[in-house]
Amino acid sequence: MTYEAVQECARFIRERFEGEMPKVAMVLGSGLNDLASSVEKATVLAFTDLPGFPKPTVEGHVGKMLIGELEGNPVICMQGRAHGYEGHSEQSLGYSTRVLSALGVETLILTNAAGSLDEVAGPGSLMAITDHINFSGLNPLVGVNDDRFGPRFPDVSQAWDREYTETFRQCAKELDIPLHEGVYLMAKGPNFETPAEIRAFRTMGANAVGMSTVPECLTARHCGMRVCGISSITNYAAGMTDGELTHTETMEFGAVAAIKLDKLLRLFVKKIS
Ligand code: HPA
Repeated sequence: MTYEAVQECARFIRERFEGEMPKVAMVLGSGLNDLASSVEKATVLAFTDLPGFPKPTVEGHVGKMLIGELEGNPVICMQGRAHGYEGHSEQSLGYSTRVLSALGVETLILTNAAGSLDEVAGPGSLMAITDHINFSGLNPLVGVNDDRFGPRFPDVSQAWDREYTETFRQCAKELDIPLHEGVYLMAKGPNFETPAEIRAFRTMGANAVGMSTVPECLTARHCGMRVCGISSITNYAAGMTDGELTHTETMEFGAVAAIKLDKLLRLFVKKIS
């Protein structure tokens, strides 16, 4: 992925949108697509039309970019994302984030569906991501570094913005929505984890596990964006209950969490705009 390709894609998008480009973008994960219907006055672009964009192939990931407003506040909403388990190259997992940066986006809000490793955070609940563990073996920054994107060895000691986490806390309090906090661990997938892996991840300090988000966070921090995020807890992680884990369950409980997340994001975007 070259700097020129990213600039070209950004130019393509700018030509199709009249008005000032939003400084805030959010990525909607599995089961959270409906949040995009909250975006008003939207210019809608399909990922399949955007030059160089990896195309999502998973059910529940629509693959559209909406540029519009959330209660009057300018926002770009990414409906769906590419995952490593779909076979995309690790470098391509950072492409859309670099395009957002090239468009002038300064704040990236990441959402995902995740399994909970904490008994207290059950299906349908929300978790603010305070840090992550990249257990996926995938890193979008691997390869020759183009300094125009960012430095060779980016610092990620504060990958997840503390001020924004505090803002999320305030929003949740105002809305009376319980908000857990914790460390998100990215596994490569596509299989859900084994119970032994979940026990191992717990000793490592993980509170939630999923198959996305970390590549976008790393890419965004590399190019100087501020990052925050919320996991929608769709299930207890493997081995914590007797049942099997299914994508259907992910979608169902994603819908429960989405109602709360919709309210939380509206207020959050309002506060930071
Ligand atoms: N593991 C990995 N990814 C997930 C899970 C899980 O339990 N739930 C939703 N996405």
